[in-house]
Amino acid sequence: MTVNLDQLRRCHFGVDLGAARTRVYVRGAGLIVDEPSAAAVNARSGSLIAVGELAERMTGRTPDYIQVVRPIAGGTVVDIEMAHRMLRQLLGDKVRRTLRRNLRLRAAACAPHGADPLAQRAITETLVGLGARRVELVDTLIAAAIGCGLPVERPEATMIMVCGAATTQVAVLSLGSIVAAQRVPVGGEAVDNAIVQHLRHEHHLMLPGQSVRPLQVALSDNGITTQGPAQTEIHGRDVLTGLPRSVHVDTAAVRDAIETPLTAVLDGIGKVLRDCPPDLVADLADRGIMMVGGSALLPGFDQMLRQATGMPVHIADRPDICAAQGLGAMLEGRIEPMVLNPLAA
Ligand SMILES: Nc1ncnc2c1ncn2[C@@H]1O[C@H](COP(=O)(O)OP(=O)(O)OP(=O)(O)O)[C@@H](O)[C@H]1O
Ligand SMILES: [Mg+2]
Repeated sequence: MTVNLDQLRRCHFGVDLGAARTRVYVRGAGLIVDEPSAAAVNARSGSLIAVGELAERMTGRTPDYIQVVRPIAGGTVVDIEMAHRMLRQLLGDKVRRTLRRNLRLRAAACAPHGADPLAQRAITETLVGLGARRVELVDTLIAAAIGCGLPVERPEATMIMVCGAATTQVAVLSLGSIVAAQRVPVGGEAVDNAIVQHLRHEHHLMLPGQSVRPLQVALSDNGITTQGPAQTEIHGRDVLTGLPRSVHVDTAAVRDAIETPLTAVLDGIGKVLRDCPPDLVADLADRGIMMVGGSALLPGFDQMLRQATGMPVHIADRPDICAAQGLGAMLEGRIEPMVLNPLAA
């Protein structure tokens, strides 16, 4: 998948369909949608009740006839029809009308690195359902690298790590292209699940999905590093009695539980480095790794990588929206095509 900047400049809007959040950048208007990829559906009539933030808040709190669905899972659109209905609602009437005026509507979208043809097709179909006549796909790694301002077009190596909800993608980029990359099916969701499982096994406590984030923050000021408080109090429901109960959780044990999924990410980094030519690896030793994606905010994740790799690790500004911003920069024409032969120019 190569980036065609000329074609991208003609696109009217760009979409990043994530397992956790959906983001839409409209040319000339900026990032106008950044909401959870969730839709609440009336199971009897099939009609949409809510999308985005509101649908997410309904998760686990709905009566039988309302279902909260997630049309994107594991970085792939699994329900095309629901995905485009959700997008349509998220965009709102005003934007939709403006876009509809365009008879030759063009869209761009991020596709995870190494997405198979079926997954690419699902993204394209979703946007075609929204009215786009033509869809350009951009590798998430390249969009994210542009979005966080990495000098991708130079003949120096830069390493980027996109830490999403369902997947973590790692790549070394040079001269505007991917030199080596890996996609690991582990992300923020796996970390949340590890915490939920740990509490269930060790403390017989059921924790609602939404309470995992406060736990991560409460773990300590220093997150998954060792300097935080030894214990923290958590409220949940007893597995056996079903009654509300609070327990004191040992933060060191939670840290261990979190580290298991994160070792898969370290494996991915190792593989990318092994696939990379030695000259580029030497560049990386001083430039380090740039972390983007929502899970880059996981407290202490950067420190853990620093310890494990011995390389400098940076977190981008607003890491969660980097890919959408990068897509936006390409739509607005802020990225100049690389002059491959400057001597002849
Ligand atoms: N402050 C935070 N601390 C820890 N984790 C966070 C924080 N903010 C967001 N996350 C995690 O980041 C993930 C969402 O990141 P992001 O928006 O990049 O995912 P996505 O693009 O929807 O997923 P994917 O790219 O895998 O399809 C969620 O799993 C969420 O738990
Ligand atoms: Mg993403």
